[in-house]
Amino acid sequence: MTGNKLLFTPGPLTTSDTVKQAMLRDLGSRDAEFLAVVSQIRRRLLELGHVADGRYEAVLMQGSGTFAIESVLSSVIPRNGKLLVAINGAYGHRMAKIANVLDIPCQTVVFEEGSPVVVDRVRSALVADPAITHVGVIHCETSTGILNPVAELGQTVRELARIFIVDAMSSFGGIPIDIAANKIDFLISSANKCIPGVPGFAFVLARRDLLEAAAGCARSLSLDLHAQWKGLESDGQFRFTPPTHALLAFRQALEELEKEGGIEGRAARYSANQQALMQAMTALGFDAYLAPEYQSHIITSFRFPAHSRFEFAAFYRRLSDLGFVIYPGKVSNADCFRIGTIGHIFPQDIQALVAAIRRVLDEMQIDSAHAAVYA
Ligand SMILES: Cc1ncc(COP(=O)(O)O)c(C=O)c1O
Repeated sequence: MTGNKLLFTPGPLTTSDTVKQAMLRDLGSRDAEFLAVVSQIRRRLLELGHVADGRYEAVLMQGSGTFAIESVLSSVIPRNGKLLVAINGAYGHRMAKIANVLDIPCQTVVFEEGSPVVVDRVRSALVADPAITHVGVIHCETSTGILNPVAELGQTVRELARIFIVDAMSSFGGIPIDIAANKIDFLISSANKCIPGVPGFAFVLARRDLLEAAAGCARSLSLDLHAQWKGLESDGQFRFTPPTHALLAFRQALEELEKEGGIEGRAARYSANQQALMQAMTALGFDAYLAPEYQSHIITSFRFPAHSRFEFAAFYRRLSDLGFVIYPGKVSNADCFRIGTIGHIFPQDIQALVAAIRRVLDEMQIDSAHAAVYA
């Protein structure tokens, strides 16, 4: 399809032509064909999380990823509950903010943005405060691209008999995650990330018994996770207008994931994308914000070149004019921009992006070979 720029962002992402074509249809929200689409998507999501054995349920929720996080927090933490959020970036802060807005008692353990959550500090916080009932963490903190140790955290949270909520918005579908083995009770992701459909809904993979226990607990009508699940279970329908086109696109995106070899196959491509990016950007003189051992293949933060002629807005605009959309930074302690390596993009697209970056640096008269060291 013409006129589309390539998106090197955390989402919405570049989608395949076939995903875009799949939504060029109108379907009735109560029509049998549409209900079959919803049911297929729910089943496939459970399979991708290795939890299709009846212990977990897939609940689809209209809105962006944040709506689904808000749905989980507002629906499953009881009135006498308390949330602990382990934070090492902007999305962790957002989770705590949602709890604050909802008047849910919330404690935080805050780490440097450039380093992962430390499991022992979470353990100490849980041991110190028996009132904490739920623990939230971000799997891939998309603000930097860092990965947090969800497997170790899950073991600790379960051992201490708390409930584990994981925001896997930018990682589910692009990094293998065994939800049950990692003791994740609620996993949240959305339709326009590593399984690149189009925006319109998010989803929660939730332990069935905990969903049952959330009956009547919600602080919101439209975001009531339990009621949404019951609606989907009883007649296969959404309670309120569903994003029919986004669901059609997502079903196609799931088929394309399957064809690529499932999450493992997808992860291999995203990893090849990220390696190609790192190599080429390093050759151009750019410094990554994260130490290599913490860097995921989802998104990479690069420091601004220390060059007096570098100006991000102009850099961004020139790249966009050439058809390449990158993303501003989101760390509080360094000037960075981000380049995502997920979506329907391939190593050759990365090469094209880096060629465009080289051209823009030349136009801005920034010596690309020394971009990171010239003041
Ligand atoms: C880890 C994480 N959590 C939450 C969100 C918020 O999702 P949305 O912008 O779809 O509401 C994002 C978006 O990129 C994210 O990466």
